[in-house]
Amino acid sequence: MSGLLRVGVLLSGGGTNLQAILDAAGAEYEVVVVVSDRADAFGLERARRAGVPAVHVDPRAHDGRGAFNEALADVLRERHVELVCLAGFMRILAPNFVKAFENRILNIHPALLPAFPGAHAVGDALEWGAKVTGATVHLVDEEVDHGPILLQRAVPVESGDDEETLHERIKATEHELYPEAIRLFAAGRVKIEGRRATIF
Ligand code: GRF
Repeated sequence: MSGLLRVGVLLSGGGTNLQAILDAAGAEYEVVVVVSDRADAFGLERARRAGVPAVHVDPRAHDGRGAFNEALADVLRERHVELVCLAGFMRILAPNFVKAFENRILNIHPALLPAFPGAHAVGDALEWGAKVTGATVHLVDEEVDHGPILLQRAVPVESGDDEETLHERIKATEHELYPEAIRLFAAGRVKIEGRRATIF
């Protein structure tokens, strides 16, 4: 093995964050597998183009959420994944998965948590009339969008924004923030105590 941190990415969609993670890989970490719950996720195609194994794990082929999560964990274990990155993975991980990779799962969320958790964060910020929103990289625990915050960056809401323009602006920030968080992890510079993730 190369000594680089072995990263596995879970996604359900287009994978622009995956692309940013792939583009920044090499010096500190490597992406060793990309897994999707959807066979048609374009993120899988991005992985293949980058020469990274792309695996579809079909939730319907498993008997319940626990079994599906065990299958996901098996794919990652087979490849000796040390850090799991959720990048637009649209399912809530089951407790058995979270325990298997405790404090080794990151997620990126398109808002400044704890503001606007959930699947509609960008629209919710707009509707609320927020002037500033942003992106958060956090550790994943058993509650949705809840674990210790690792990095956050603010993004302004411009007058005239719709969900699409605002999400694009947030994504541009996400694409810098996520690789940065993975590099910190790879460098062993993240310490987690209770709710606090400290960078040293
Ligand atoms: C991102 O906005 C991320 O914050 C959210 O899902 C979106 C994924 O986008 N969790 P992409 O598939 O990486 O383009």
